[in-house]
Amino acid sequence: MERIIVQKSLGLNGNIRVDGSKNSILPILAATLLSEEECIIHDIPNLQDVRVMCKLLEVLGAKVERLGKNTLKISAENITTCEAPYELISKMRASFLVMGPLLTRCQNAKIYMPGGCAIGSRPIDLHLKGFRYLGTEIKSENGYVHAVTKKLVGNDIYLDFPSVGATENIMMAATLAEGETILENAAEEPEIVDLANFINSMGGNIIGAGTKTIRIKGVKKLHKTEHTVIPDRIEAGTYMVAAAATGGDVTIENVVSSHLQPVIAKLREAGAQVLEYGDKLRVISDGKINPVDIKTLPYPGFPTDMQAQFMSMLSIAIGTSIIHETIFENRFMHANELSRMGVDVKVEGSSAILKGSSKLSGAKVKATDLRAGAALIIAGLLADGETEITEVFHIKRGYDNIIEKLQNIGANIRYEK
Ligand code: UD1
Repeated sequence: MERIIVQKSLGLNGNIRVDGSKNSILPILAATLLSEEECIIHDIPNLQDVRVMCKLLEVLGAKVERLGKNTLKISAENITTCEAPYELISKMRASFLVMGPLLTRCQNAKIYMPGGCAIGSRPIDLHLKGFRYLGTEIKSENGYVHAVTKKLVGNDIYLDFPSVGATENIMMAATLAEGETILENAAEEPEIVDLANFINSMGGNIIGAGTKTIRIKGVKKLHKTEHTVIPDRIEAGTYMVAAAATGGDVTIENVVSSHLQPVIAKLREAGAQVLEYGDKLRVISDGKINPVDIKTLPYPGFPTDMQAQFMSMLSIAIGTSIIHETIFENRFMHANELSRMGVDVKVEGSSAILKGSSKLSGAKVKATDLRAGAALIIAGLLADGETEITEVFHIKRGYDNIIEKLQNIGANIRYEK
């Protein structure tokens, strides 16, 4: 069983380059199904989730060709099946994003219902509400969601919550629908903007992505394109927290600092210096962390995907911090693991109270999800002795080369089989 072994490593120092965004490339890969012509995409991170999405595209009939280390060419000239099987959907919830594109290409999509996962029940009702409003009939059959339409027709759709996945799925389905769709209370994440830019570069007509109201004018057909994925703001944020917590001086390259404003603001409150230069950010810290309260919110609020990493850092703050999780109902699994390492944390409903001033000591811990795994690595860098992290596959879903990148800035960390 693969494990990550971390030893205390204070004062991380050096440069790290961030990869293309996982949460951008997954919907963009799904959107390649919208066009019969080829899409060339650059800066694709080499991640397990990306491999699962590529496999799914191939199962559906697309050709996926590697043109370079981080470049893929995808041609979905022929879709050979509109059924997405259990084996792939159960591996990754984001595979459900092929439903919108399949409905546009085949008027029919049968996709295994994505299950619950470690961070809460994560329903798909808002995706389905959008598809219904666009003229789709939806049935549930033997664990599959079966959606059928005679013709997708644009409509006004209000999302009860600004779900990232629902916004993306509906945007994709509306791209080739007849007439205009107005999506209200849409998610505003940078990854939504990247997806809209990708679709528009193929001839789509999407206005307002990145705001609460997105207008999608249906077009007849999309053509070929070439696109570069935006940098991963969560990968960047993770290394920024590692730098701040360990009292380091680390420059993060390939970032869009405007995407990281809530993270930068909270790191500054915690006492770190964050300097912004063009596509680089430098984090300098003396390792003395102030307590900070955090409330996760849809973008541009503080990202839920950074909550666990901040918990590790705030465990050594001098004073009490409160973390309030409002996006997912059960996203404090890492609190149990961190308490094995000596972190004084108590979870009460959707809040975690961190007493701070914890003396962390290495322990055997389990990555319970992707960001929880990253949080354990950060805690391991702060803890006396050795930390052994299992269930490493979660971490590989979202961080390419995390071990090498951290070693390069002085971390004592390695894989062990
Ligand atoms: C995406 C990100 C994930 C991030 C999350 C929130 C990808 C591949 N994943 O996930 O990393 O943590 O956004 O920023 O981009 N909800 C419903 N009904 C629905 C859909 C969602 O009630 O139909 C609820 C969910 O249960 C959750 C909340 O909305 O409580 C947010 O979910 P959503 O924004 O959809 O997250 P994902 O797109 O799954």
